[in-house]
Amino acid sequence: MDNRPQWGTRAGFVLAAIGSAVGLGNIWRFPGTAYDNGGGAFFLPYLFALLTAGIPILIMEFTIGHKNRGSAPLSYARVRRGSEWMGWWQVIIAFVISTYYSVIIAWAMSYSVFSFNLSWGKGSTVDFLVSDYLKVSKAGEMGSLVPGVLIPLIITWVVTLAILFAGVKKGIEKANKIMIPALVILFLIIVVRAVTLPGAIDGLNAFFKPNWDMIAKPQVWVAAYGQIFFSLSIAFAIMITYSSYLPKKSDITNNAFITGFANSSVELLAGIGVFAALGFMANQQGVPVDEVVKSGVILAFAVFPEIINQFPALNELFGFLFFFCLVLAGLSSLISIVETFIAGVQEKFQLSRKASVAIGGGLSALISLFFATQGGLNFLDVTDEFINQFGVALAGLFEVVFFAWFVKQLNPLKQHADAISDIRLGAWWKICLSIITPVVLGYMMYGKLKERII
Ligand code: PHE
Ligand code: NA
Repeated sequence: MDNRPQWGTRAGFVLAAIGSAVGLGNIWRFPGTAYDNGGGAFFLPYLFALLTAGIPILIMEFTIGHKNRGSAPLSYARVRRGSEWMGWWQVIIAFVISTYYSVIIAWAMSYSVFSFNLSWGKGSTVDFLVSDYLKVSKAGEMGSLVPGVLIPLIITWVVTLAILFAGVKKGIEKANKIMIPALVILFLIIVVRAVTLPGAIDGLNAFFKPNWDMIAKPQVWVAAYGQIFFSLSIAFAIMITYSSYLPKKSDITNNAFITGFANSSVELLAGIGVFAALGFMANQQGVPVDEVVKSGVILAFAVFPEIINQFPALNELFGFLFFFCLVLAGLSSLISIVETFIAGVQEKFQLSRKASVAIGGGLSALISLFFATQGGLNFLDVTDEFINQFGVALAGLFEVVFFAWFVKQLNPLKQHADAISDIRLGAWWKICLSIITPVVLGYMMYGKLKERII
């Protein structure tokens, strides 16, 4: 036996995996992505990506981590010498994400406080704090640190690193056991409120109205796969790292299904909540819903405050609930992102856990200051876009091709998973990973590259 840390309970692992998956991507990214890519019709590519890539890869990553008992670089190295770099690539993507993801959490934190007296601005979207910051970057300047974000950013990092310091069981597991149930309850309260607002139904109609022409477009499929990869935290080395802490007897396949469906449920719920709220706002302003739809930074930090300002009652409470949910969802994901690279660094350089938390986390915290400046804010959506459309899908493509075709590990992995799981993996699992996912991802990448070059 090595002295690798271990999860205390099955629920602890599943909640941590769900905690990683359910994040800002569910709340602020999914609704707008679905809307832009065909509305109701988007569910087709989305479900296809979930069932043929999301869950199969999740099962694969859980098995890789469990079998090789190492974070991504070490696990890859154990599968085949010389392939460690693939793990490092994923670790680096995770690192980059942590530098801006933390800033969004900090924003959400300061907005939770603003909500006590609705001090995030008044009137129409253009008057909001965030719009001022975005204006600066348009002029191409860096601007200064966004006021009010430094302290929450420090708090975000202190909390995250403190949890990671405490270790896998006493830190990560314990934190998720509190944060995830709390998140689900609070989020449900907001969604129920949103769908009972006047005009909510118009928002839902706009969200679910299918635009079938869209599904013939490659970029819609890119968006669906990108959303699934980002949202399920796969191809980032995270799920490999988390599952490397599983005890010997663990029902891998079942856990993957639970994580996948839990994440998509929150995504659907968020879509409903966000669009119900947008419908309400359109109704208040007497304009069509299509005119008020936004996503990303603007949705969360300009449109939402505006909506909450117009709530018929308890504005402060709902404002707080919304932004506090963003904080909970974000923190539980950030913990997993940082765990990935500190675990990689720790194993590589034989450091103590605390030392690698301090070094890796410290470095990311430092870089995150860039995204906390006025100019950095503008880079945030762009970086997010780039990471998702290229970094992740490419890493995912490499990963499946590597395991299915290069080292031909799908059979041994299947045996490993089947021996400890309730559900046995059928032929579908291998077909998805060896054929469907590589073909779709390869075609997508080809289409994307062509688009850029021509
Ligand atoms: N899955 C998280 C979300 O939906 C984000 C995330 C991305 C977490 C990458 C870990 C790694 O927001
Ligand atoms: Na997610």
